[in-house]
Amino acid sequence: MAAQNLSSKEIFALEDKHGCRNYAPVPVALSRGEGVFVWDVEGKKYYDFLSAYSAVNQGHCHPRIVDALKKQADQLTLVSRAFYSDKLGQYEKFMTELLGFDRLLPMNTGVEGGESACKIARKWGYDVKKIPYKQAKIIFAEGNFWGRTLSAVSASSDPSCYQGFGPYMPGFELIPYNDIPALEKALQDPNVAAFMVEPIQGEAGVVIPDDGYLRKVRELCTRHNVLWIADEVQTGLGRTGKLLAVEHEGVRPDILILGKALSGGALPVSAVLANNNVMDVITPGTHGSTYGGNPLACAVATEAMKVLLEEKLCENAAKLESVLREELEKIPKNAVTSVRGRGLMFAMVVNDKIPAYDVVLRLRDAGLLTKTTHGQVIRLAPPLVITEQQIRDACKIMRDVFQTFSN
Ligand SMILES: Cc1ncc(COP(=O)(O)O)c(C=O)c1O
Repeated sequence: MAAQNLSSKEIFALEDKHGCRNYAPVPVALSRGEGVFVWDVEGKKYYDFLSAYSAVNQGHCHPRIVDALKKQADQLTLVSRAFYSDKLGQYEKFMTELLGFDRLLPMNTGVEGGESACKIARKWGYDVKKIPYKQAKIIFAEGNFWGRTLSAVSASSDPSCYQGFGPYMPGFELIPYNDIPALEKALQDPNVAAFMVEPIQGEAGVVIPDDGYLRKVRELCTRHNVLWIADEVQTGLGRTGKLLAVEHEGVRPDILILGKALSGGALPVSAVLANNNVMDVITPGTHGSTYGGNPLACAVATEAMKVLLEEKLCENAAKLESVLREELEKIPKNAVTSVRGRGLMFAMVVNDKIPAYDVVLRLRDAGLLTKTTHGQVIRLAPPLVITEQQIRDACKIMRDVFQTFSN
């Protein structure tokens, strides 16, 4: 049975019959991608305005990234960390110099990055801050999303993430997002090791905190000797118009988590970065991953980062923010009540009278793919290689689709 001969409908049915039903995908079956476009198995072309949740910032199948993948695949793909490879150290040097941290811990998925950051924070809490053993706390913000492991769902305020999966990780506490007094209060507890937060909450619906929030987070964490963990798995690597979203406020976290676009969509690559005083609490045998830091991932991530920098994709995202906003604001207010975003990470809030999922389906029919986040919020996050003309063209598709709801 050759997969390329299957129709979209047959593909939906196959997954539905044989796969775990842990997702409800928009019904479209894709078989090819290039830049900002993807094609379904029937050959229909779509703008990709989701970018695999910001993993494909460099555009689908970027030729330089694919080339790096192929070249390295011919050489060496995996040695585990039982041995050195010729790629890992060079990659770590490149990344730490670029991002200004002493050390990098290579992992695979975003959630492993978050999990690793929590482990590091607890160990730091005991070894350095001298929190009594088993008393360390990590504070999270309501609305956070950092993946699906038991730790991640233990930190979630979304019942669909955590319900039915208890008992939960002890020592995790939630405070409201974008709430400095709540953080100040939580940090009074001397057993707090870390505060983990997204600079902009992605899955919560592109929730942008007040100006100055991150500066204040930095200040409070420093004052209370608490590590600030910035989850930049989604916001990082150009998505918001800067290499890191924390740069918008000129601050740096103690622990930085990256993922998704670190490989430009080619394979799962994540990383945790920190300085010696924090990272050195991890010693041989206390943490690891068979695939973390594999030569294939190192070669791909290095090239994906170079593409981001050399093609000035952060700058492109920053430049096109105003174009996307201007175009989205042309959509009548009785269809889209508000639009928010930074760089090319946007959300539009659809009027309650129009079911947002129906909008997603009609956009698909009109050749543009995206997805709702929560309820009436539709996320818009095209690959950062998009041009001004393509944004205007895509937004015209959106306007035309909203028009069909008023007929
Ligand atoms: C901010 C953030 N952190 C972590 C993750 C988890 O990444 P992964 O799905 O690669 O485990 C996500 C995924 O959407 C995310 O948005």
